[in-house]
Amino acid sequence: MEGNRKLILITGVTRGIGQGLTDEFIRLGHTVLGCARSTPVIRKLRESHGEPHDFYALDVSSNDEVKSWASLVLTTHGTPDFIINNAGVINLSNPLWEIQDDEFSRVMDVNVKGVANIIRHFVPQMIAAKKGVIVNMSSGWGRSADAEVAPYCASKWAIEGLTRSLAAELPSPLAAVALNPGCVNTRMLETCFGSAASNHVTPERWAQTGAPFILSISRSNNGEAMTHMV
Ligand SMILES: NC(=O)c1ccc[n+]([C@@H]2O[C@H](COP(=O)([O-])OP(=O)(O)OC[C@H]3O[C@@H](n4cnc5c(N)ncnc54)[C@H](OP(=O)(O)O)[C@@H]3O)[C@@H](O)[C@H]2O)c1
Repeated sequence: MEGNRKLILITGVTRGIGQGLTDEFIRLGHTVLGCARSTPVIRKLRESHGEPHDFYALDVSSNDEVKSWASLVLTTHGTPDFIINNAGVINLSNPLWEIQDDEFSRVMDVNVKGVANIIRHFVPQMIAAKKGVIVNMSSGWGRSADAEVAPYCASKWAIEGLTRSLAAELPSPLAAVALNPGCVNTRMLETCFGSAASNHVTPERWAQTGAPFILSISRSNNGEAMTHMV
């Protein structure tokens, strides 16, 4: 494994898909650097997964916090082989005209600007190191639309466009893709599907095939709108 051990940076590791991927990548022998906002859960992750893995409490929507994190981990751990921009939020289900300005901004700040913050502070070193794959978590609602999720849809359609622009900018062998994970039974899915969320696959089960799928992404996929459903 030593030569194949990848350094994988994941945002949003305290629950759901991010936590499932973290556990699976570590089980496969890779190194994970993760972040999310909940300090107590980040502390527990640090306790359960010691070095070389590391976990940090920060908000991806803060450019300053992401900048400090990047400066720390790029120095101590080196250049990531993969960045998985997974952290995300969804609006409470409501028609667009009932969604307040601050809730709309929160969704865009985390789902779109949070991804741009990570790219701004990590990609220059990836370009210098001539390696790296960036996976931006999209959604079925990044390619289609439904009622009562307009801010979330807008943010994920933005991720599709942002990813294609980024892909056109990245020098080979770097790559950026948008990834739709299908429906996974997480707190986010519960927010919009209610108890019907439990009809869908668990994040742990999704990650069993999702992690190898992500590891297989390369320059040949640059700019693709990918889907991995279980
Ligand atoms: N579940 C699905 O069916 C589904 C379908 C399509 C796409 N997706 C996408 O998959 C990704 C993961 O979703 P999920 O279902 O696993 O959601 P989730 O269970 O709600 O988990 C979201 C994660 O993001 C973190 N997070 C939220 N805001 C953050 C911020 N500002 N800074 C740092 N971390 C933040 C959360 O941790 P803290 O609260 O501790 O910060 C949590 O760890 C999202 O991008 C989502 O849009 C999910």
